[in-house]
Amino acid sequence: MSTTITFIIDEVEVKAQKGQTILEAADEAGIYIPRLCAMKDLTPFGSCRVCTVLVNGRPQAACTQPVAPGIVVENNTEKLLNIRKNIIEMLFVEGNHFCMFCEKSGNCELQALAYRLGIDAPAFPYQFPKREIDATHRDIFIDRNRCILCARCVRASRDLDGKNVFQFIGRGPEKRIAVNAQIKLSDTDINLTDKAVDVCPVGAILRKRVGYKVPVGQRLYDHKPIGSEIETR
Ligand code: FES
Repeated sequence: MSTTITFIIDEVEVKAQKGQTILEAADEAGIYIPRLCAMKDLTPFGSCRVCTVLVNGRPQAACTQPVAPGIVVENNTEKLLNIRKNIIEMLFVEGNHFCMFCEKSGNCELQALAYRLGIDAPAFPYQFPKREIDATHRDIFIDRNRCILCARCVRASRDLDGKNVFQFIGRGPEKRIAVNAQIKLSDTDINLTDKAVDVCPVGAILRKRVGYKVPVGQRLYDHKPIGSEIETR
């Protein structure tokens, strides 16, 4: 029995394999659906909702929603772009993101999405939360001011590194990323070769002493918008 499924994204017929998510099928078809918490090789988490699409008219997270025969998916519409724009705008004011001082600038997915979606000024009042930095580890630091709670580090440490270095604690506005040690990152068994160190979409988990190795102007999103590595249509 064939496991190939045909469905529609923005009037384009797309073929997918049974069990794939809409996001995976779209990627393979060269159609970019914006995302933040989703990442190749990580278990879908469905937390940021940046990948929201309409499936037969109903909002769904493309990164967790499996494909089904004949579904009609809306992705690149004004309404959805505005929903995504609002989510990104809220993420910016909910944390402390100062791109001009952040070494992740140019490689940051949050910043790159803001540019792609045409955000050039804050739409909501800044919250200026008080968040902690953990610079205790010799080679790695956590700046929670920039954390967007995407859980990529949680999933990468658990599923790819087999370590469980990170987890969330607290609820609502108090929710934050914590480490699996009494207080500090230096007491965990994380090390520089861990996948969890590389998956942060923003500048919340970074290697020390290599911040400006790639000069501004030569970074990932300095010349091409995020998603252009995927989209062929
Ligand atoms: S990318 Fe789908 S919910 Fe975050």
